Amino acid sequence: MLDSVIDDANSLGDDLPSGLIRKPGKIKAAAKRKKKLSEVKTVNVLPANIDVQHCDFRNLQVEDGSVDLILTDVIWSLSARKDWLALSECAKKWLKPKGLFVSLIGSETLPDFLDEIRTHLHYQTMGAMVYKAPKMSVDGRLFKQLTPFVIASNCKEKLDLGGLIDALFPKDANKDYFDMQQPISPMVDLTRALSKAGDVVVDPHLGSGTNGVADMRVGQRNFIGCDINLKTVDIARHRIHTEGREEFDPFFKSRVVTVAG
Ligand SMILES: C[S@@+](CC[C@H](N)C(=O)[O-])C[C@H]1O[C@@H](n2cnc3c(N)ncnc32)[C@H](O)[C@@H]1O
Repeated sequence: MLDSVIDDANSLGDDLPSGLIRKPGKIKAAAKRKKKLSEVKTVNVLPANIDVQHCDFRNLQVEDGSVDLILTDVIWSLSARKDWLALSECAKKWLKPKGLFVSLIGSETLPDFLDEIRTHLHYQTMGAMVYKAPKMSVDGRLFKQLTPFVIASNCKEKLDLGGLIDALFPKDANKDYFDMQQPISPMVDLTRALSKAGDVVVDPHLGSGTNGVADMRVGQRNFIGCDINLKTVDIARHRIHTEGREEFDPFFKSRVVTVAG
């Protein structure tokens, strides 16, 4: 039944009359996701600088002391506390001496996240992705417009953060493949500011592959990602293969800064 409603909504596309169905936006989004997921093909070969593994991050094949930037999006709920601690321990091992660890985290669990990761890492600063329109929070307490990210490192020294602006404005927010999917453009901004050509960038909670796509768009990075869920690994490989090119990114040119002289 739901399937046929979704199929109808899909065929109407943008012509779906608003108000006819109570939540047309949600039905359209579900229809779009169904279509996108049906297009996911197994991708066996990715570019040589991209390595996507299906594993728990604790088993990720990465050399100790070899990583310049960990850019990730952990599970935000308190139930992941033990994972936050374990991940920060891995991060300390994997990172080069002045390497950076960056993760998105929900504003409610941010203090607990910091408590855990500061066992092994040093806080540098934080920033946030700022969305155009506020949305009522899941628990109905407030309208939310920010997704925070925390920047930490494995050394006490305050590090150069590449002129990063700490408010990032997503231009491409959608959840086409996955409920936890994040926009690509802020991840491009973070990758570009916090790493350089030749660096090793790791995402140990890859999900639908957003950070792998961002790395491909920035270029000249060696990317290693993993996820514990095989379905999202397949989606990630598909997205890196299909979306990881500059020409796919309508905002790419507007972010290129031309230095005079
Ligand atoms: C918040 S989502 C990441 C979403 C991603 N930023 C995106 O745009 O699609 C977190 C991901 O971590 C994965 N995950 C959870 N525990 C994990 C673990 N122990 N090792 C590796 N991946 C894990 C989940 O399967 C999920 O896909």
